[in-house]
Amino acid sequence: MADNVRLLAVRSLMKVLPADGGGKSLREVLAEQPVLLAAERGLLADLLFGVCRHYRLLDHWLGQQMDKPLKSSARAVRLALLCGLHELWFSERPQHAVVNAWPDVCRALNAPWAAGLCNALLRKASKVNAEQISRHLDVPLRCSLPDWLWQRFDQAWPEQANDIAEAALLPPPFTLRLSDPSIEAALIEDGLEVRRGQLSPQAAYLSPPRPVQMLPGFKDGALSVQDEAAQLPALLIEVPAGGRILDACAAPGGKTGQLAEYFPDAELLALDIDAKRLKRVRDNLDRLRRNATLVVGDAAEPGNWWDRQLFDAVLLDAPCSATGILRRQPDLKWHRRDSDIATLCGLQARILDAIWPLVRPGGMLVYATCSILPEENAGQVQAFLARHGDAREDTPVEARSVITSHGCQLLPVADGPDGFFFARLRKAG
Ligand SMILES: C[S@@+](CC[C@H](N)C(=O)[O-])C[C@H]1O[C@@H](n2cnc3c(N)ncnc32)[C@H](O)[C@@H]1O
Repeated sequence: MADNVRLLAVRSLMKVLPADGGGKSLREVLAEQPVLLAAERGLLADLLFGVCRHYRLLDHWLGQQMDKPLKSSARAVRLALLCGLHELWFSERPQHAVVNAWPDVCRALNAPWAAGLCNALLRKASKVNAEQISRHLDVPLRCSLPDWLWQRFDQAWPEQANDIAEAALLPPPFTLRLSDPSIEAALIEDGLEVRRGQLSPQAAYLSPPRPVQMLPGFKDGALSVQDEAAQLPALLIEVPAGGRILDACAAPGGKTGQLAEYFPDAELLALDIDAKRLKRVRDNLDRLRRNATLVVGDAAEPGNWWDRQLFDAVLLDAPCSATGILRRQPDLKWHRRDSDIATLCGLQARILDAIWPLVRPGGMLVYATCSILPEENAGQVQAFLARHGDAREDTPVEARSVITSHGCQLLPVADGPDGFFFARLRKAG
């Protein structure tokens, strides 16, 4: 059973980390998997996320052991070796079981020639651990970051960059938004440990993690999976009774659900460019028993979908580098390129400029990203304020954490919130 899952992990990683670059996202590939038992799913996710998280360190060690590099046609074998290394160094599974399992996977991959090599390498690897190997390595290798990304972190946050890089290696906490506070007692009764958040009044950290569908209250909309930092931007929205709200980049709908809960009488429009992702907003709202108008459209082109009625408040949770949530999406480290950052900044500025005229005088726009790069965040807000004389910053002081020129920048915290940014902009009345 476990060997089939290991084989499945290699085949899945071939899609996420193909030899020629590019590749599908981990989420997409996991969604394509056949129905698996909980333990099988756990092993599969551990291998996929783990190899993406520690890819550079594992690949570096492997490269050092080989006299001759493996041919690119042997990509599946290489990924099997990386999976084996990951299991040895970062899982609790017995070493002998791991060392025995992976040569069989090589045979199942029609690479019987690699079985002996795999066995020898894993035996060698079992005599060391990741800490011994990492000790003398530079941060980007030790923490498995592409050089360009490490340079950006180091330049932006010279004092915190090490902690940021290390936090990206840890499995993320299991964080919920409790819509019904009384559900906390049911979670505890169900054997879960619940720690309340410190920034969002609805945040709860749960352990041990469990498939969310199996939590009491999930099907009835009493709770949702949502990081604590991601809960904060919607808390800054204020609208008069019966007001109009635009959630401009809404899918999959974490914040749409929040807005629908906070403002049941408001007219809420949830927009996203991706029709498939927008379907998830509907599922979310149905589960929460809330409603909103859903529209497929480009936020940078309101002429195609806007009804000419101004909004009291806009939430723009913009497409971004997602550098604040690498622990949740470690594949992004290998899919993003340095040049993507300028492209994303351009898109964010275009959407901001296109959406601003839709805000009524005296109304607000909350800009948010799950990025920790200043050019997408404080820098983006600064440039926006310079372009729009009728805008002023209005982020509540208590919402600030790391000191930045504009908005509130949160950096990722182990066992705490993701890296996130938000700023509230007010239009002259
Ligand atoms: C960070 S996610 C939003 C997360 C969402 N607000 C939540 O809380 O669940 C960014 C979203 O922006 C959408 N998007 C990207 N470009 C867009 C555009 N030009 N117009 C509208 N939506 C866009 C993406 O499809 C993606 O769903």
